[in-house]
Amino acid sequence: MTQVQAKYLKDYRAPDYTISHVALDFVLAGSDTRVTATSQVRRLNDSATSLLLDGEALSIEALTVDGNPYPYQVQDGQLLLENLAAEFELQVITRLDPGANSALEGLYMSDGAYCTQCEAQGFRRITYFLDRPDVLAIYTVRVEADKQAFPYLLSNGNQVEAGDLDGGRHFVCWQDPFPKPAYLFALVAGDFDLLQDSFVTKSGREVALQVFVDKGNLHKSHHAMASLKKSMAWDEQRFDLEYDLDIYMIVAVDFFNMGAMENKGLNVFNTKYVLADTASATDDDYHGIESVVAHEYFHNWTGNRITCRDWFQLSLKEGLTVFRDQEFSSDVGSRAVNRIHAIKVIKNQQFAEDSSPMAHAIRPESVIEMNNFYTVTVYNKGAEVIRMMHTLLGETGFQAGMKCYVERHDGQAVTCDDFVAAMEDASGVDLSQFRRWYSQSGTPLVTVKEEYDAGANQYRLHISQRTLPTAEQAEKWPLHIPFDLELLSAEGESILNRVLDVTQAEQTFVFDDLPSAPVPSLLQNFSAPVKLLFNYSIEQLLHLIRFASSEVAKWEASVTLFSQSVWHNVASLQAGQSMHIDSRLIDAIKGLLLEPDLDQALLAEILHFPNLSTLIEQVNEADIDALSMARTFVLEEIASGCEDELLARYRELAAIDAPAARSLKNAALLLLLNVSDEHQTLAENQYRHATNMTDSLGALTALNSEDSVLRQTLLDDFQQRWSQTPLVMDKWLTLQATCAGDERIDAIKTLMQHPAFSLSNPNRVRALIGAFSAANLAVFHRQDGAGYQLLTDVIIELNTLNPQVAARIITPLIQFKKFDESRQVLMQQSLQQILALPQLSNDLFEKVSKALA
Ligand code: TRP
Ligand code: ZN
Repeated sequence: MTQVQAKYLKDYRAPDYTISHVALDFVLAGSDTRVTATSQVRRLNDSATSLLLDGEALSIEALTVDGNPYPYQVQDGQLLLENLAAEFELQVITRLDPGANSALEGLYMSDGAYCTQCEAQGFRRITYFLDRPDVLAIYTVRVEADKQAFPYLLSNGNQVEAGDLDGGRHFVCWQDPFPKPAYLFALVAGDFDLLQDSFVTKSGREVALQVFVDKGNLHKSHHAMASLKKSMAWDEQRFDLEYDLDIYMIVAVDFFNMGAMENKGLNVFNTKYVLADTASATDDDYHGIESVVAHEYFHNWTGNRITCRDWFQLSLKEGLTVFRDQEFSSDVGSRAVNRIHAIKVIKNQQFAEDSSPMAHAIRPESVIEMNNFYTVTVYNKGAEVIRMMHTLLGETGFQAGMKCYVERHDGQAVTCDDFVAAMEDASGVDLSQFRRWYSQSGTPLVTVKEEYDAGANQYRLHISQRTLPTAEQAEKWPLHIPFDLELLSAEGESILNRVLDVTQAEQTFVFDDLPSAPVPSLLQNFSAPVKLLFNYSIEQLLHLIRFASSEVAKWEASVTLFSQSVWHNVASLQAGQSMHIDSRLIDAIKGLLLEPDLDQALLAEILHFPNLSTLIEQVNEADIDALSMARTFVLEEIASGCEDELLARYRELAAIDAPAARSLKNAALLLLLNVSDEHQTLAENQYRHATNMTDSLGALTALNSEDSVLRQTLLDDFQQRWSQTPLVMDKWLTLQATCAGDERIDAIKTLMQHPAFSLSNPNRVRALIGAFSAANLAVFHRQDGAGYQLLTDVIIELNTLNPQVAARIITPLIQFKKFDESRQVLMQQSLQQILALPQLSNDLFEKVSKALA
């Protein structure tokens, strides 16, 4: 079959026509569902006479222009109308079968409820339309359905009318006063439990807040509601942004491709990011809910009131909104721990994407399937780019920039350049070179060399930057890198704290009046998304762990210390020598365990030493077998060296009911189980007496490093207890997907037949297959290719069922460059097998063809 062509940013053209108003009438009736769309169309380009509307998999029942039947043609799904007037009313009636929609894009069914997902290009599966974000229309929506089965009929904006109809049916009408692009349209019809509350904005308007959840889950909706109110208050305080409608609704659905969706006034959420009580959700789940609720709420201004001109500008709303949700989490929780989490996403996922066949700038130049660009690059590196501007401008300058951006562009569809221009104009800071971060892909390598001149009391840092060519972009330029630096004296005092402007390929920074060589804390707080290459000595790292002012720097130093030890042992293994650990590493960790004032959550982060994917990202080619052995060795040596201290911390924290204490306790437990099987009883007791999911799962996770009788017993118990709670069964699936051992592949195949699993639900697929291929590297990369084949078989089934999810879970398979020749061959064979599929989706085609190019 012929595949679609890539679209290019450089080819962007403003639309010839726009749609100012649209009235949608939904008659929801199963496979006979009908949508009548009445659009007011207006010509923008005087020389245009024909109109091409987007549509996908639609069956058209009637079409009129100004009330009269009108000739049309359908070509490649698009609808062509010719000889049109400057202004007219277009009415199109389409017929849909939401129950047959397994791709979960457009109008589909989730567990008996109708719901929509229109970002990025799902609206065209509902009706023919100008489905592009620079066409902003005012929507009025009428929804009609059976009253008993679908008592709630929801859409964007305010409810303006409702009533009963013959045959047990009813209808509701909605009006959204704010012009919006089609991707922000939403409709939900179903039967739910409803949690209601309200929020008074700072200008004194009362907003009704509603959270809709599946029947029987009302008690699990309170945290989402509390998070929403917290977000609304925070956005007023920190960004001076207030909510604008009289009502804000959140609906939680089981079947959802992503985390959540910011549809105007009617957010649709994956249940994973709404439902929680302490028995069934972990502290991490609670945190995830708070941050996703905040993220979607923050989109109301950064995304909805001001939206993207075209999809290449996706980071305009996503990078900025991730930055905003990260700041929210940091203001209401631990700034250091939140920063560490964000750094980890960049270092173990985004760096991998940057060096993969799918490398792209945060504002990509070309796209085949837009769904493939909701990536860690656009979202998380995008947020780092915003954060760098925040660093360069300071909070005051940045907020001035935000104010200028909102005043200038409210109600518009704009570009990333417009955002940067607002930041520049409001602050006076020159961001011309900085703009390259938007167009250049790849991770800059920043090499630092230090030099101390004792005679001159002078310290010099030579900083050079280089970005290697990426698959889609050969030529690279020096970037403007804010480089945050602290210098510590030999006694551990902070003698300098400053952000250097690194702008050239090579630059030297000179520091005078230093009577002895300082210890540098480089790229503090990960002030730019780059790879830092500097040969820290063990002494320097120990110094940083003890004295660095920044908690994040202490964490970084411990990560570096651990990584150096692992790589040292990989080299030993490859040379046929025995492994060894420097006792100073053990002593440093012991010291931290004994420090009473160190933040518990930070210490927990330190004890979660880098995983295999983080380590792989540090090298060009990884010997996965040696790496996995060396990592386990270093972990075991640290754990047994610190056994007494770990036990003491574990016991001291055992009964404390606080997230930070629980995270440290569970990190200690995980390490203790690396020392000896004797500690299994700690885990067993913790599991059996747990009063919350964090402790139950902490115990099971600690036992999960190898298969044992106890592990199996507790997993069975867990399954019986939670068989009726899908989100918890996802944890059960993930535990089994991430255990070691050669029998894993068969165990996973068996689990795919288990009633708790279903290929049609994305959460289930991610919990079992996604977790296996992204987090069980040792088994996924089994030498015989059985891991690759398992993933490939699932992808082949998902290709027709749900292409978006198929293309998401293929990621580990296209990142084959780091592995040895024989594994690369096996991975490429799998990709060939997918490429040969007769009905290959655009989503998979784009990724596989780039990987094999
Ligand atoms: N805009 C959503 C967010 O960032 C992301 C999203 C939700 C999405 N559902 C989607 C993107 C479906 C693509 C397709 O919160
Ligand atoms: Zn978003």
